[in-house]
Amino acid sequence: MRTVDLIRRKREGEELAPEEIAFLVDGYNQGSIPDYQMSAFLMATFFASMSDREVSALTDCLIRSGETLDLSDIPGVKVDKHSTGGVGDKTSLIAAPLAAAAGVVVPMMSGRGLGHTGGTLDKLESIPGFRTNLTIEEFKAQLATHCLAFIGQSEQLCPADGRVYALRDASATVESIPLIASSIMSKKCAEGIDALVLDVKVGSGAFMKKQVEARRLAQMMVGIGRRADKRVQALITDMNQPLGFAVGNALEIMEVSQTLQNAGPVDLTRLSLELAARMIYLGKITKTLDEARELAQAKLLDGSGYRKLKDVIQAQGGNPQVLDRFDLLPNATGAHDVTSPRAGYISAINAEYIGTASAMIGAGRATKEDGIDPAVGVILEVKVGTKVEAGGVLCRLYYTDDTYVAEAADFIEDAFRISATPPEARELILEVVG
Ligand code: URA
Repeated sequence: MRTVDLIRRKREGEELAPEEIAFLVDGYNQGSIPDYQMSAFLMATFFASMSDREVSALTDCLIRSGETLDLSDIPGVKVDKHSTGGVGDKTSLIAAPLAAAAGVVVPMMSGRGLGHTGGTLDKLESIPGFRTNLTIEEFKAQLATHCLAFIGQSEQLCPADGRVYALRDASATVESIPLIASSIMSKKCAEGIDALVLDVKVGSGAFMKKQVEARRLAQMMVGIGRRADKRVQALITDMNQPLGFAVGNALEIMEVSQTLQNAGPVDLTRLSLELAARMIYLGKITKTLDEARELAQAKLLDGSGYRKLKDVIQAQGGNPQVLDRFDLLPNATGAHDVTSPRAGYISAINAEYIGTASAMIGAGRATKEDGIDPAVGVILEVKVGTKVEAGGVLCRLYYTDDTYVAEAADFIEDAFRISATPPEARELILEVVG
């Protein structure tokens, strides 16, 4: 087998056999195939895509490159939830405690924010003392005791994905549906779960800008999961404006606390409840999805989801009082208002711009190595459909260092579209796949 022949055949749109995919991925992972050939193969895949058989073969290679967790000694159905990435997307921190409070075992393995999108690990680490670097033994013990544990992506799971992802980043091949699908699903399959709820974001703040692309990604991930014997459902949800009002790590923890006390934003509450219900249903706690929805709602209203998150914060070394006393979280030292140039209705809020502005003042990172400031971010004062007066506050930037505030404020002004008439209401949950 010659690498150059495989690259050429992929370039011509041919389907490669599983052993040919394995030759490429294992060869790259072991160092016998150089970066320039793997980059060419990734670019060919970007243009020619992959069949279901190829994408499953690629996923298997990524899984085989590392360890697979065995959670079978923990009783109960293990269900994780994964979002493809958005702005203000803190649903994991609400849906997971609600599902765990209903009896689902939730091994939640999360990533960090990159670019304009946020990451669950960064949000959790804004809680003083919170540890996300649990050992596998600690992770399993906590799952057995609390049904929920949050952990960072282990270096031992799918190491080949880390290498291929770095090359994709450097070769402009990140935005390929089969490459994204195999990258996400390999890590999810390796973590030893039985079922998975996916939140595939679509819109200005998402990887996928068009619904047909989001659908294709959702179908591909559901297919990979099914072939690996996992129950998987995907929601395709709107990311044409940030979710909730808060964007930024400690600010989002505050909004999570409010939402788990049933005093959160309507969109965030609605999506978190639906995700929790799907986790409860796939976790076989209820027979029907409607019963699961009722149970998720009950766990919100009786405060047991809120208490579950407190218990888990305590178990992972954090101070659970932060959920009641926001002054115990890192707090910004300055605030800057962005105001409306005219009266009208908010017709669009570009989520990518809001996420980028928040990252500019320190809430996010441009490269994986950058540090972040947990205190800072953006709080929206309006959502799509809100009526504003000229000079009314659109959002507030919270900062600790004012170096980039003026630049971020200029940038963020372009995020808001203001129209003379109210915009049409848009659905939050657009489709269900699986
Ligand atoms: N998240 C991943 O883990 N991989 C991708 O390719 C994209 C998002």
